[in-house]
Amino acid sequence: MSKNIRLGVNIDHVATLRNARGGMHPDPFTVAKRAMAAGADGITIHLREDRRHIRDADAEAICAWAGVPINLEMAATDEMAAIAVRLRPHGVCIVPERRAEITTEGGLDVVQHRNTLKPIIARLNDAGIVVSLFIDPVAAQVQASVEALAAVVELHTGAYANGRADELSALAAAAVLTARVGLECHAGHGLTFMNVGPIAALPEIVELNIGHFLIGEALFTGLPRAIAEMKRRMAAALAG
Ligand code: PXP
Repeated sequence: MSKNIRLGVNIDHVATLRNARGGMHPDPFTVAKRAMAAGADGITIHLREDRRHIRDADAEAICAWAGVPINLEMAATDEMAAIAVRLRPHGVCIVPERRAEITTEGGLDVVQHRNTLKPIIARLNDAGIVVSLFIDPVAAQVQASVEALAAVVELHTGAYANGRADELSALAAAAVLTARVGLECHAGHGLTFMNVGPIAALPEIVELNIGHFLIGEALFTGLPRAIAEMKRRMAAALAG
């Protein structure tokens, strides 16, 4: 099966660094431009309810950037849906959010929350936004994502990245099911040079969203080299 796999670069941690000193440097939008110039296929930002990294002004400027696919991660709240409808990113990825967490810890429980999610997703769909749901690789969550009217699921690779041996087969099975039920399949969280290969090699996965490792690696090699190397590893895994 021949396919192309896209790399969405998550720039949240550029904002984390900027916010540490309360100034303007390093500017996430400037880094996003460098990432695109270096071969990223899109930019991902997470506008959290607590605004701990990306802020409203960042989201506004980045979403207004013509011609670049922006993936806006957000919680399923009316406030966030209103922002998304106003900013019109290419895509929205709905993630669970708890204020005390360090990062997005688990997938969205679509099975339990499908009735709450459905009107929010319908509102985003009506605005022409492609909606994805960030879920654990569990069949019932994939099925519920169809019922909730999502077009895409992003499979949570965090447990796999943390070394859970059984997770790769769970991700593979969830990716197959996602394609079978007619949804597009993305994946992300905790991916690095060392662990990206087996995920990129799954034929149904067409997009990976990677942030923390790339921004950290950029300190050693610069962002363009980090992105080029990630893309090289993704392509090599695909080529088998
Ligand atoms: N995908 C989603 C839905 C996320 O919440 C995150 C973390 O913000 C990522 C991908 C990227 O994870 P990481 O920063 O570990 O690469």
